[in-house]
Amino acid sequence: MDVMDFCFISLGSAVVVYYGMKVFFFSRMLYIKLWFPLSKSFFTSMGEWAVVTGSSEGIGKAYAIELAGQGMNVVIVSRTKEKLKMVAKEISETTGQKVIVIVEDLTEENIIGEIEDKLKDLNIGVLVNNLGILPSRIPCRYLDTADLDQTITKVINCNVRVMAKMCKIILPGMEKRGKGVIVNVSSGMACVVCPLYTLYSASKVFVERFSQGLQAEYKSKGILIQAVAPFGVSTPMTGNMKADMVTLTAEDFVKTSLQYLRAGDKTYGSICHTVLGWILQSIPLQLLHSQSMQDGLTELVKKRLGE
Ligand SMILES: NC(=O)c1ccc[n+]([C@@H]2O[C@H](COP(=O)([O-])OP(=O)(O)OC[C@H]3O[C@@H](n4cnc5c(N)ncnc54)[C@H](OP(=O)(O)O)[C@@H]3O)[C@@H](O)[C@H]2O)c1
Repeated sequence: MDVMDFCFISLGSAVVVYYGMKVFFFSRMLYIKLWFPLSKSFFTSMGEWAVVTGSSEGIGKAYAIELAGQGMNVVIVSRTKEKLKMVAKEISETTGQKVIVIVEDLTEENIIGEIEDKLKDLNIGVLVNNLGILPSRIPCRYLDTADLDQTITKVINCNVRVMAKMCKIILPGMEKRGKGVIVNVSSGMACVVCPLYTLYSASKVFVERFSQGLQAEYKSKGILIQAVAPFGVSTPMTGNMKADMVTLTAEDFVKTSLQYLRAGDKTYGSICHTVLGWILQSIPLQLLHSQSMQDGLTELVKKRLGE
């Protein structure tokens, strides 16, 4: 065998191993309950309470309802008292679990200290850092974003600062008890460089790197930390667009994604969004970032939002 033969055989074997591993990991996603089983008492075994930020609507509300359904008491936090009260009523009527309502704008400067005081006596087993906002409903260039200065502050506050601060106040209790789950909600848009959503997708890259670093630091302490990165989910953020093959309802997304808790420090949370992530990552960036693609994306979002 000459050197060329050796090179070709090695390259071929490397390609087979690479794609073989991909197929293997994908097959594990298909049989999630088999590969990463969660016992019925998994969540309650972590502690009595779950805290969910941004939980009066959308994905946060679905997390609160699902975790209460799993037997946890829940703390729900957002700015609107009426909406939170309705969620609390629904949870106590359907599950009988206790609910603490915290009405606050989490982006206010000293609010996290107040939240820490309100949570200090609770045995918190699960934290869902769900709060996150888009700079603009319709994708647009960075400088075309309305009230750019204010928007930068709001997006970084909601998507980055609040998450890091909530981990700061809740992790110590989990570390002391040697158990806990933290779910940080990222976005599928963090998987590629995403023009027209630049500020948003960059903030979600922070969410993922932060979660993955934290998981490496606290895994040995019995704490499970995961970034969950969905694509389309039908919520007020996405104009409650109609659910379909790729746009999940918030309830379906939460139910499915919680099954992936043991599947690593980052998940798309569903098969269809995993496939979508792969497709997006395999499109050449030159094509993905072309002007026609950017124009097409803007038109598509406008059409789906009915604007
Ligand atoms: N929907 C999607 O397609 C999608 C896709 C990928 C990732 N995500 C991520 O999933 C998470 C949830 O998204 P969503 O679609 O459910 O959002 P949403 O429908 O806009 O709901 C946001 C929630 O956050 C609360 N909130 C907003 N600003 C707040 C503030 N300053 N302080 C406290 N609460 C605040 C809102 O309630 P109030 O208005 O009452 O405060 C509401 O309960 C976000 O991190 C988002 O980036 C969503």
